[in-house]
Amino acid sequence: MKKYFCFILLCLCINSCSLSDQTELPSLKEKYNDYFPIGAAIGNKHLNSKDSLLVPRHFASITAENDMKPTKTIKSEGNYTFEAGDKLVNFAEKNNLLIRGHTLVWYNQTDDWFYEDEDGNTLSKELLFQRMKTYIKDVLTHYKGKIYAWDVVNEAVSDLDDKFYRDNIKWFEIGGPEYIEVAFRYAREADPDVKLFYNDYDLINPKKRDKVYKMIKELLAKGVPIDGIGMQGHWTLEDVNKENLSKSIDLFSSLGLEVQITELDISVYPYYHNMDRSTLPKEIKPYTEALALKLAAKYKEVFEVFRDKKDKISNVTFWGVADNNTWLSDYVVRGRTDYPLLFDKDYKAKKAFYTIMDF
Ligand code: GLA
Repeated sequence: MKKYFCFILLCLCINSCSLSDQTELPSLKEKYNDYFPIGAAIGNKHLNSKDSLLVPRHFASITAENDMKPTKTIKSEGNYTFEAGDKLVNFAEKNNLLIRGHTLVWYNQTDDWFYEDEDGNTLSKELLFQRMKTYIKDVLTHYKGKIYAWDVVNEAVSDLDDKFYRDNIKWFEIGGPEYIEVAFRYAREADPDVKLFYNDYDLINPKKRDKVYKMIKELLAKGVPIDGIGMQGHWTLEDVNKENLSKSIDLFSSLGLEVQITELDISVYPYYHNMDRSTLPKEIKPYTEALALKLAAKYKEVFEVFRDKKDKISNVTFWGVADNNTWLSDYVVRGRTDYPLLFDKDYKAKKAFYTIMDF
């Protein structure tokens, strides 16, 4: 029994020692203080783990990873569940962190009832917009003064070359493209001070970038209140480079908008957006020294661009904290371990961390 306790004590000590090493690293957010706030997307699960120590040390902002999405926030008309979101807000307030809200209008992680009446019939456009308006007003009012920016509409543009909008989703099927415009107008009505973002992925891809540019330009011309564009990130070692990244940031910024990198992670596997999942390689790459160096080089490249363009970028947020908790390891290809973040699965700073600190 005694031996068993000694063993547990030893494990606890090793664990906390390795973490205290990490919390004594130079702070990422301090290093970037004169550039832009660096953030991490977290959820309640992070609050009860070692992430809760690393986050305040290295990050200046948090984004609600899942806890403020409609499926988490509302269960039925008027029946809100703000507890998880509130815990994140408390954590941010306690640690003096900025907080981004994510996300109000999205085809995903929004329950089916949202688009239906009590009998399960699809709502009319008018009723859907009314429900959207109430939802946005209630959520923005609840978090008023606490959250500085919201991803108002997420992923409205299609990946397909022959399509402009993502049109096979309930929001579009019922509301047409107008749902995007009204979402921003309702958000501005609900809170005149909060920053309103359009957020999407693969915006380094020229075709998708140009569609988003055109859409936002037209919306702005109509007086739709949009403050910024969130380039999610979710890149791979293969797709992002200095040229495509710079072009996109410059283009979006030329609209007079803030640009934020909202969901940064770099997969070590091939490009996966809009790919047939069954065709993606399933073999797990070992995290070798060579791979660590490749990832570090890619992070160096993108952070050089971010720093050069610091006047156009108002936040860079990682989608997660450490490799032990990344959607890329269980969603894109189930069970395929990925290594997309700055801290490894044991919260140790990776080469990528040191590379972006070295300038
Ligand atoms: C998208 C969404 C996020 C999250 C990531 C993957 O980019 O905007 O909320 O779901 O996918 O985890």
